[in-house]
Amino acid sequence: MSAFSADWLALREPYDIAARNATVRDAAIARVAGLDPVAIVDLACGTGSSLRALAPRIAARQSWRLVDNDLSLLARAGGTARPDRAQVTPVPIDLARDLEAALDGAVDLVTTTALLDLVSEPWLERLAVECAARRLPLYAALSYDGRIAFEPQDRGDAAIIAAVNAHQHGDKGFGPSLGPAAATAALSRFAAVGYDVTHETADWVMGPHDREMQNALLAGWAGAAREFGAPHLDEIIAWLTRRRELVAAGRSSIRVGHVDLFAQPTGSGVR
Ligand SMILES: C[S@@+](CC[C@H](N)C(=O)[O-])C[C@H]1O[C@@H](n2cnc3c(N)ncnc32)[C@H](O)[C@@H]1O
Repeated sequence: MSAFSADWLALREPYDIAARNATVRDAAIARVAGLDPVAIVDLACGTGSSLRALAPRIAARQSWRLVDNDLSLLARAGGTARPDRAQVTPVPIDLARDLEAALDGAVDLVTTTALLDLVSEPWLERLAVECAARRLPLYAALSYDGRIAFEPQDRGDAAIIAAVNAHQHGDKGFGPSLGPAAATAALSRFAAVGYDVTHETADWVMGPHDREMQNALLAGWAGAAREFGAPHLDEIIAWLTRRRELVAAGRSSIRVGHVDLFAQPTGSGVR
């Protein structure tokens, strides 16, 4: 399964929904309370997960600008089930190049899900500056933060996790990715432009019955370790074999750390 395939996004979405931090989500929704209609831009929308997570919880009429550079995902996002009060406009934009175009015009709230760990420090800085210049609040959900916990543990886990987290810094089209450092970097970048930032953990939790998700993650992590070049291929294969046997036996649980954040402009301006 490729990193942004519709199949992978569909597999992970229930875990994203369960993981989303209610305090952070509700802070974002409270920010637009009283507006009718509400104009929302979702950056890197995929098939529309932010829309599905938020639209039913906003009582007002909403206009959603759904932005992605993948036309196939955008087509699915445009057709997603939603409340009648939510209007949707899919917009193909390469955010690495044309972030500003995505944010221009009438916007009350910027949302994004599972994007910040893919972007570079300079792009994050650009996002903070462009949001601040427009005084736009940002709700950024599900940034991977580097924590992977297995139960039961295996002697190969630590080396694989280290390789996965190093591999996460590869270039995903925005320059070298922040990977697990994304949430911490976002907190400081948005604080630096005078924003008040709320953040909480939003972890994926997989129990013994979540075999498909666990196996997809294990395969992805083994592949990342192979591309990274460590540990040795024999050790990666042996680790994957042992972990898959635990999944098949219904004895495996995995927690994957994420952070949700909501950043809103205060009156104080740039620090
Ligand atoms: C991990 S997926 C998350 C999708 C969706 N937000 C979700 O949570 O299901 C990352 C998304 O970023 C999009 N993306 C990657 N690079 C992009 C770029 N340069 N411009 C616009 N979208 C991009 C991908 O097409 C994909 O939809």
